[in-house]
Amino acid sequence: MCGIVGYVGTKNSAEILVDGLRKLEYRGYDSAGIAVFENDEIKVCKAKGRLDDLEEKMSVEGVPQGVCGIGHTRWATHGEPSDINSHPHSSKTLSIVHNGIIENYIELKAKLIKKGYVFESQTDTEVVAKLLDYYYDGKPFETIKKVIGAVKGSYALGIIFKDFPNQLFAVRKDSPLIVGVGENENFIASDIPAILKYTNKYYLIDENEIVILTKDNVSILSLDQEAIEKELFTATWDIEAAEKCGYAHFMLKEIFEQPEAWNKTVSPRITDGFPNLDVDSLTDELLKGVEKIHIVACGTAMHAGMVGKNVIESMVRIPTDVCIASEFRYSNPILSKKDLVIIISQSGETADTLAALRLAKQNGVHTLAVVNVVGSSIAREADSVIYTWAGPEIAVASTKAYMVQLSVMYLFALKLALVKGTLSEDKVREYCGALLDIPQKMSDLLEKCEDIKYFSSRFQNAENLFFIGRGLDYALSLEASLKLKEISYIHSEAYAAGELKHGTISLITDNIPVIAIATQENLYEKTISNIKEVATRGAKVLLIVNEAFEVDESIAKYIFKIPTVDAVLMPVLTIIPLQLFAYYTSVLKGCDVDKPRNLAKSVTVE
Ligand code: AGP
Repeated sequence: MCGIVGYVGTKNSAEILVDGLRKLEYRGYDSAGIAVFENDEIKVCKAKGRLDDLEEKMSVEGVPQGVCGIGHTRWATHGEPSDINSHPHSSKTLSIVHNGIIENYIELKAKLIKKGYVFESQTDTEVVAKLLDYYYDGKPFETIKKVIGAVKGSYALGIIFKDFPNQLFAVRKDSPLIVGVGENENFIASDIPAILKYTNKYYLIDENEIVILTKDNVSILSLDQEAIEKELFTATWDIEAAEKCGYAHFMLKEIFEQPEAWNKTVSPRITDGFPNLDVDSLTDELLKGVEKIHIVACGTAMHAGMVGKNVIESMVRIPTDVCIASEFRYSNPILSKKDLVIIISQSGETADTLAALRLAKQNGVHTLAVVNVVGSSIAREADSVIYTWAGPEIAVASTKAYMVQLSVMYLFALKLALVKGTLSEDKVREYCGALLDIPQKMSDLLEKCEDIKYFSSRFQNAENLFFIGRGLDYALSLEASLKLKEISYIHSEAYAAGELKHGTISLITDNIPVIAIATQENLYEKTISNIKEVATRGAKVLLIVNEAFEVDESIAKYIFKIPTVDAVLMPVLTIIPLQLFAYYTSVLKGCDVDKPRNLAKSVTVE
């Protein structure tokens, strides 16, 4: 999970490459580098650290001058972050950047060492650079073809050959790659934001297609060297979507974009008051026959699935499992032809989630993907796709993508309930109306979240923190806890409130912060009892509560009230102050909110 870019045109490529890498830093940010043709020689500059470190190094060593080059921002897998392990990696004849993992690199490295190659890094990528050199016979296409026949694993590769100044070569398998098409300039990139400043026209590259770019020509070739005609897409995102636009951080901007993201995802899918998923392959007949659902995803997307399970089971009354994709893929899951596997992923390229999708397909189960990135691997491989329209999510901590994943869970549950007749038409219509009202309610709530900053200031020094809740509030707590851990580095756990006393309550001592969530009427009294149990043991409680409930104000040190909507929709509003709580805590602690340590946005490794 790294970011790659490449440029060939008439402008100063170093500037364009670094600019593109900035848009891809969400994919990895522990080192960066570029390689540029300068007077027909390849000049490489790379550095451990952020792009600022690379720029500083270039200001000392000199910025490579030329109109063609490749660049990389890294999330280390093989070999620690260091100058040497940074990309590009080179051999006598070429330089490359790589996103992915070469699984058989040890075996290939041993063979190449026997042939006299000397390696300087610990990376799997350097093996590809040396292998390309080994096979190189003056013909880049044939050389690349031989190399992809020899390597196992995943790759998006950008390559420049010394003998072919001002030409870019690229190929991919299981890692994303697009080709951006401009006027007198062309690009390769891992993702659209990297090219958006220069062009919104792009091709999606398929597995093992070999790309050859010059400033005024794009060739996409099959392994038989046949030219492939492809659809030229136009990105609908504007440049602002990938910029901070005055917000201090992408995460804050994305939290505030949630009403719009919800609206874009939901409103086109409600027709005459009823859900209309508009997916041809998801026929009413197919939905009628579904007897069991498996929701498979990772991290935040999996937490959206936890809410989805509650909603589907309550509206449709069919058993729904939620599985962590990395567990699902090795668990020999029990799948039957009448099951439906729902895959949720923002990026559409998470390695474990993609593997889970493939496993479900091998078992002959219909797969439905809920994906944000158009044309991503998961979107392309699933039997049916429902796109979420959140726009680009740049902050590593997912917020608006979670929100729209929830929206699709509601739409899907309502559609299924309608088809199976488990809810009356009137009830479905009522819920659809409530879904359309949500953006306004979110906007109103976002305006009233000033108090959250204060709560963060009260909790920022905690070393441990607990979230407790029941039912939907528990599902929501899992996400609130992940957000806090991820960006503020405070250890936190989400617990089903009734489960605390079976062990974990021994950790509750004086001043341990507990955030209790109580939005569900049928569970309110039970959660209040659990709050009393922790408060009696000294916990400092922040209660997040449905404003419709009568609250004994002495129950908690701090209270925040959530506007009332239908019980099943409460998570949608309740998560907002909890996202902001994680955000402000991270800011107060001086953490790098958008790029938390050790993480990257797209997890394309197991
Ligand atoms: C959440 O803030 C994380 N970025 C992470 O848990 C993420 O949701 C997970 O890696 C899944 O990613 P995906 O949605 O792109 O598949």
